[in-house]
Amino acid sequence: MRIIRIFDTTLRDGEQSPGASMNVDEKIQVAKQLVRLGVDIIEAGFPIASPGDFEAVKRISSEVKGAVIAGLARAKEEDIKRAWEAVRGAPKKRIHTFHSTSDIHLKYQFRVSREEALKRSVEMVGLARSFVKDVEFSPMDATRTEIGYLLDVVEAVVEAGASTVNIPDTVGYTTPAEFGAMIKAIKDRIGDRAVISVHCHNDLGLAVANSLAAVANGAGQVECTVNGIGERAGNCSMEEVVMALKTRKDFYRAETKINTKEIIRTSRLVTRITGIPVQPNKAIVGANAFAHESGIHQDGLLKEKMTYEIIRPEEIGLHHTELVLGKHSGRHAFKARLKELGYELSPEEVETAFRKFKHLADQKKDIFDEDIETLVSEEVSKIPETYSLVDLSVKSGLKVKPAATLKLKINDRVVEKTARGDGPVDAAYKAIASVTKTKSDLLKFEVKSITGGTDALGEVMVSLEEDGKKVRGQGADTDIIVAAAKAYVNALNKLAVRRRHDRASS
Ligand code: KIV
Ligand code: ZN
Repeated sequence: MRIIRIFDTTLRDGEQSPGASMNVDEKIQVAKQLVRLGVDIIEAGFPIASPGDFEAVKRISSEVKGAVIAGLARAKEEDIKRAWEAVRGAPKKRIHTFHSTSDIHLKYQFRVSREEALKRSVEMVGLARSFVKDVEFSPMDATRTEIGYLLDVVEAVVEAGASTVNIPDTVGYTTPAEFGAMIKAIKDRIGDRAVISVHCHNDLGLAVANSLAAVANGAGQVECTVNGIGERAGNCSMEEVVMALKTRKDFYRAETKINTKEIIRTSRLVTRITGIPVQPNKAIVGANAFAHESGIHQDGLLKEKMTYEIIRPEEIGLHHTELVLGKHSGRHAFKARLKELGYELSPEEVETAFRKFKHLADQKKDIFDEDIETLVSEEVSKIPETYSLVDLSVKSGLKVKPAATLKLKINDRVVEKTARGDGPVDAAYKAIASVTKTKSDLLKFEVKSITGGTDALGEVMVSLEEDGKKVRGQGADTDIIVAAAKAYVNALNKLAVRRRHDRASS
């Protein structure tokens, strides 16, 4: 069976989604999860784009083992050298360089001739090859490039040493039949001299269909992102393309090395870190993807799952009906469950998560995997705390002006403040803003329930902006006002870290 390589670009193209920027620690967390998921290549960033991108690629290269780490570079000497500096510490590394090839881009954006573009592409692949064996080249806007010229560029970069040629549908313009034919023409021209990769954008909602058509016509690598995030309408969705190949192995006669049981956890981690929610009806990872509403379907399912279910929820790691632990569960059972869920935590992290679990078990009778994952991800994504919530009590009701009394620890000092607001969350936020003297603006406030029931753990996500810098904060609690306060405090802690980082580097 043919193996299709999965090249994940969540940390590069995915991060180009409006509002999706991640800090270095968050990127490392995502990269480690991508390794658990089993992706072949992680495009960790665009090192020349900013010092933060460079640092992220460099740290992922030295801290994340198990996948090839790729750095993106325009077909420019300074970009390629910077990408090399960033990836050189990785045990397996790749430089991914690109140059536009469509007449539209060459004429209006770069003002260079086809010949110049080809020459530069060949030279820069050669330069990248002087640093590393594994070089990928992308003719940007390939799907709007005249096919004869595209074939010449592809052949020339392969001759120059590119081991992968990636064909991007940069503007999401192509269609499955057309793209399939383009990939076939490339395969006929270069045979097995290089791996053909595809990189599809979703402007017409065809990114996954186009990628699959490419696989059927000889592509050996698919570039994709978790939850399909990415520039504009996003990229080919990792979970959709992987599950399509798995479910229709009979048709594609190809498979990936992805451990599909890690899909849901990866999707949730990326949602939590980027703050970009998944639409409920999204294939594979949407909240309704396995919810059967119709009576006829439910009847069929009860008789035989195969009647209406083409993927078992367990295949993507969904076990949400499973009751895991309760108030009387001990440390041992908790640790065993963490292990089953795939978490490797330090003894201190286990201890803190266990304390939080016990606290939650006092408030909530049944604790599900999703609850544990929320507690643990809070623990794993912990950042230094300038502020920590000591206590919060709120008075509100139909006929009372809401008021919140807050105790907040600022470094080593506990301060207390009461504030009134338009609602209980507003009152709590006013109290926090007053004692922290924050100048940040609240951009986004979102609430979601982790499981069902009125005692469910509620999760709040907020986005704050201060001096043009945006951060996200999360907080979870069975009390939604406390969850909201935790999320705000978490975001303020991230801003404090950024301020310290900026002071240190200026
Ligand atoms: O969409 C695109 O063309 C890209 C390239 C850099 C591969 O993201
Ligand atoms: Zn792209």
